[in-house]
Amino acid sequence: TGLAEFIAGIPKCELHVHIEGTLEPEMKFDFAERNDLVLPYADVAQLRAAYAFHDLPSFLKAYYEGMEVLLTEQDFYDLAWAYLARAHAQNVRYAEIFFDPQAHTSRGVSFDTVIRGLRRALMDAYRLLDLRAQLIMCFLRDLPAGYAMATLLESLPYKEWIVGVGLDSDEHGNPPSAFAAVFERARAEGYFLTMHCDVDQVNTTEHIRQCLAVIGVDRIDHGVNALDDPALHTEIARRGLGLTVCPISNRHVRGDLGHDALRRMLELGMRATVNSDDPAYFGGYVTENLLAVSEAAGLGEWEVLQLERNAFEIAWLPAGVRDHYL
Ligand code: HPA
Ligand code: ZN
Repeated sequence: TGLAEFIAGIPKCELHVHIEGTLEPEMKFDFAERNDLVLPYADVAQLRAAYAFHDLPSFLKAYYEGMEVLLTEQDFYDLAWAYLARAHAQNVRYAEIFFDPQAHTSRGVSFDTVIRGLRRALMDAYRLLDLRAQLIMCFLRDLPAGYAMATLLESLPYKEWIVGVGLDSDEHGNPPSAFAAVFERARAEGYFLTMHCDVDQVNTTEHIRQCLAVIGVDRIDHGVNALDDPALHTEIARRGLGLTVCPISNRHVRGDLGHDALRRMLELGMRATVNSDDPAYFGGYVTENLLAVSEAAGLGEWEVLQLERNAFEIAWLPAGVRDHYL
């Protein structure tokens, strides 16, 4: 259709993608082979068939299991490079990429190994593809806050390579307030702040409230449930905070694309954006997400442009660099 061509052609910005969530089954087999690991799957098709998620915990189980093949700096380079090349092919001009250091340090892979591989891929993408990208370090909220703080301190020598910090993994029983001291220190170190407030998790609206009142986030990841409470969505709109909505991810963990929510956010003047989350697991990069949600919500070219304008506006870029994309 015309809209598909339009979406494919415009310059795009991705603000919510977990690099470990871009591990395609083919890559997983390659990494396993070169690291002398044997996967409990006969082939790519069988592995892909195991990607049947119905909620966040069932997704996370596959996600953490999947990344066990990532061991060397070259693995992290290759993973990030594959994503960046793919994003470039979709006309993504700027990306902010999450990584989960604790999902690797807890397995004995060093922080230095992870970040050097990722950083080298980002530098190559900038030089060779004219694709700018920055890293956001996420803390795993189902691990103790002390481990998050230790990870924050471990990151400080690499501060120039990290633009912000986030909070991901299983939200149930793991509220933002438990990480208030970690995020306060991160802010003091110059990091931007964001947190996942996943769709339809228990107490998500309370978590969004804490993000605003306790943490002082610069952005909210997902955040769709803010629409359930006028006090929340009014405050988000007033502050001009961005929301990184991930439609195909939504469909996997709660059954629909969140297209009605996205349309409402635009109507309310909220800075909603469309992103891919874990594209290798959910089956859609940014173009597919934009097309799916636009068709479901009945959005036209003007609204699609607004979504991308929102994304470049809330990107963690210096004003002079941002202007180049708007
Ligand atoms: N939610 C929470 N944790 C995650 C996600 C997500 O969508 N993706 C990777 N880790
Ligand atoms: Zn996410």
